[in-house]
Amino acid sequence: MKFKYDFLKNIVSQIFMKTGLTQEDANRASEVLLRSNFTGVDSHGLSRLENYVYKLRTGKINVHPNLRQINDDEKLIKLDGDNGLGLVVAPRALDICIDAAKKHGISCVTVNNSNHFGVGNYYGGKIAENDLIGIVITNAAPSMAPFGGIEKLLGTNPIVISIPTGKSAPIILDMATSAVAYGAIEQFALMNRELEPNWAMDLEGNMTLDPKVVTSGNGMLMPMARHKGYGLALVVDILCLALAGAKAGKDIVSIRGRGDDIEHEGVGHMMLAIDISRFGSKEEFKGKVDSYVEFIKNSEKKAGVEEIFTPGEIEYNRLNTNMEDGIDLKENVYSYLEKITREYDILTEGQSLKDFAQ
Ligand SMILES: NC(=O)c1ccc[n+]([C@@H]2O[C@H](COP(=O)([O-])OP(=O)(O)OC[C@H]3O[C@@H](n4cnc5c(N)ncnc54)[C@H](O)[C@@H]3O)[C@@H](O)[C@H]2O)c1
Repeated sequence: MKFKYDFLKNIVSQIFMKTGLTQEDANRASEVLLRSNFTGVDSHGLSRLENYVYKLRTGKINVHPNLRQINDDEKLIKLDGDNGLGLVVAPRALDICIDAAKKHGISCVTVNNSNHFGVGNYYGGKIAENDLIGIVITNAAPSMAPFGGIEKLLGTNPIVISIPTGKSAPIILDMATSAVAYGAIEQFALMNRELEPNWAMDLEGNMTLDPKVVTSGNGMLMPMARHKGYGLALVVDILCLALAGAKAGKDIVSIRGRGDDIEHEGVGHMMLAIDISRFGSKEEFKGKVDSYVEFIKNSEKKAGVEEIFTPGEIEYNRLNTNMEDGIDLKENVYSYLEKITREYDILTEGQSLKDFAQ
């Protein structure tokens, strides 16, 4: 059962509007959320809607954030996210970053007082579409220990680096600094699947293959590439703390938290954009990137490998296919959408989501 993008966008926007978001913010939040599912990153898409709705409904996240600049500079812009939904505040900050980079050649925008911003490839993709090079980072609630430690102090703090191309898929390196994103562990737990080695460890630091050790709070993620992933997670946290003025490390409240005493997450983001045309002709830049990509893709492959991909290419291909065909919804996502659309009278009496499947 496949669902088309426009149908889901409409439903999800209406859900967000019922929680109090303006139409513009609701549209933007649903765009970011669906970008995740449509690029195949299911861990950061619709499966998180319930949590966002809970937090908006209970006032844990500000439905009408006043995103405001708190320094005085046109290209190095420090924003206060006013505890808004990350899917609203971060895309708005991104627009500011893109506009400033086009005007000044380069810009860096930070946001504090924000919440989980969703899938990184949304941000990298938008920057590349605008013929800019981008670096986007965010910190997240702790789920990883420092290398050699056993205290959960660091988030999966992703890094996105994007580069515009001509005819090839845009380069969008979008990666958690943990071995895998936390959402992937949740997906494995749901499917009762074993983890791969070196993805997770228990609270004593022993590697575990059981995802439920992590999701039950009795374990944590391991960094990607051992000390190197730890180093990357650490610098992201420091930049969000010291430059953006956000919370960091243990002070960040988990997005999954529930209950009256839950404070807001308070994560920070940093976005940097560089206008390629300030370094020479755009066409020449893109031509060079395209030839480079061709050279990489046409290089000799290992036995059994059919194609070499560039960073972001797999997600880009999926996006193109899914925009044509629509996407399947996981059972838990489908049943939540059925429930919430009924509760909010988005579907009329007797209607079911199934009626809108392809
Ligand atoms: N908002 C947050 O707080 C937060 C935190 C952590 C992760 N995330 C998101 O989680 C998502 C998943 O992160 P991840 O690290 O598990 O991603 P991943 O390991 O699936 O992919 C990482 C990068 O590797 C590339 N890649 C994957 N397979 C490839 C292949 N075979 N050949 C060449 N390149 C390949 C991808 O295109 C991507 O750029 C990301 O979108 C990230 O932004 C968000």
